[in-house]
Amino acid sequence: MSGAASPSEGRARARTAAVVLAAGQGTRFRSERAKVLHQVAGRSMLRWVLEALRPLDLDRVVVVVGHQGPEVAAEAEAAALPGLVTVEQPVQRGTGHAVRCAVEAGALDDADTVLVLPGDVPLLRAEALEALLAAHGDRAVTLATARVDDPAGYGRVIRTADGAVARIVEHRDASEAERAVDEINASIYAFARAALARELARLSADNDQGEEYLTDVVEPLTAQGAGAVVTAADLVAGVNDRAQLAAAGAVLRQRILDGHMRAGVTVIDPATTYVGAEVELDADVTLLPGTHLEGATAVAAGAVIGPDTRLVDTQVGPAAAVTYSVVVQAAIGAGASVGPFTYLRPKTRLEARSKAGAFVEMKASTVGEGSKVPHLSYVGDTTIGKDANIGAATVTVNYDGFEKHATVIGDGARVGSDTMLVAPVTVGRNAYTAAGSVITQDVPDGALGVERSEQRNVEGYAERKAARYRQRGQGEARGS
Ligand code: UD1
Ligand code: CA
Repeated sequence: MSGAASPSEGRARARTAAVVLAAGQGTRFRSERAKVLHQVAGRSMLRWVLEALRPLDLDRVVVVVGHQGPEVAAEAEAAALPGLVTVEQPVQRGTGHAVRCAVEAGALDDADTVLVLPGDVPLLRAEALEALLAAHGDRAVTLATARVDDPAGYGRVIRTADGAVARIVEHRDASEAERAVDEINASIYAFARAALARELARLSADNDQGEEYLTDVVEPLTAQGAGAVVTAADLVAGVNDRAQLAAAGAVLRQRILDGHMRAGVTVIDPATTYVGAEVELDADVTLLPGTHLEGATAVAAGAVIGPDTRLVDTQVGPAAAVTYSVVVQAAIGAGASVGPFTYLRPKTRLEARSKAGAFVEMKASTVGEGSKVPHLSYVGDTTIGKDANIGAATVTVNYDGFEKHATVIGDGARVGSDTMLVAPVTVGRNAYTAAGSVITQDVPDGALGVERSEQRNVEGYAERKAARYRQRGQGEARGS
């Protein structure tokens, strides 16, 4: 700690901590789930806020949890932000009380400056926080504020005649004249820690909600210096209900797409393209309309995705193509092709230049280099070697009602159309199965497996059948 350091040394060594308020339920969400856990553009709201803090390299980030505390704490810890700790606010007695919990837990003892921000501002960016800290200097408090068209619901920033910050009044406690103010409190502040701690200890809950408002520390702190940084409204918008969640999602999606487009990704129709925050796209990827990329999906250069395709936690290799398909936790190799109307389920692996064609479903299977499953097949728990061809409507019969069993198809094999491969079963290298066979025994390398009765042709059948119908028709005509 700074101890007897001179002011200039103290500044050089000033430590900044952040407190993220994430204990509330979010009543206006009407949800069982804590508001900050709701997902927007591929991340929880809390995670978006923590990602805005990450570039600041703070010594300490305190997340105050309460409603669904263990779940919110787990989500905070998943961000793996250095110096992150969680503090419990057992009963939600207001934003001031929440910060007081962090102070009283000792989590801010080493800090000179404390950033406070809510967990429901997913649009926030690091630059806005950096600007706030830069403006803060030696003041007791610096607020981020914004001018908005519709300030209803927000706390208003009340200034003196000469423009200095005087206090914040909550919407529900405000007079008509105060409600006319369009400068709102963003609920993002930089505080001198000692001054903050002192005023928090004096907070009362004498207001319309009976809560300890953090906003009430501002007025007493003006004596030691208060200031404000007017910030773009679309960076600090608070999300209090699901309509605002959707609006924030639209802004975040556009930001994500803008970033990818500037980095060389072609997006034909940004309005119908959904790319999650964690998705990685190389330059020269093309996303066609109706593409949804979620989770830890990564797509390599030259690949074309869509239209109308959903990829979740999936790796796509260079120059692969995936069209009108749903793919979950799969890997698609270089130059491979998928779709249309294909469903690849977890642990599917398509090696280079392989194909999962129209109306094919696969699960926990590997398709070797250059092998093709072109039409209407189910492939499960299967390993297919290189350069094999699986005929239309082949089904691996992998489930006996109790257990799943494996199918192995060797390099260069030719599985005939409509083959049922009853697992466990192996079709050898360069082996064939005859179309329509139900294969229950292994087929050796280079052999043909046939399982069907010999064909018999009934001569003159069509003519005899037509004659029968002609006779019947005459009978009906007589009877009428
Ligand atoms: C707050 C501000 C308001 C500001 C607005 C900006 C106060 C009193 N009001 O109002 O001036 O314009 O944000 O969006 O601060 N929380 C806790 N513990 C609690 C209460 C809240 O952790 O006891 C957390 C919530 O989970 C949330 C954040 O604090 O993340 C803000 O709470 P919220 O109820 O959304 O405050 P607003 O009414 O929006
Ligand atoms: Ca809020």
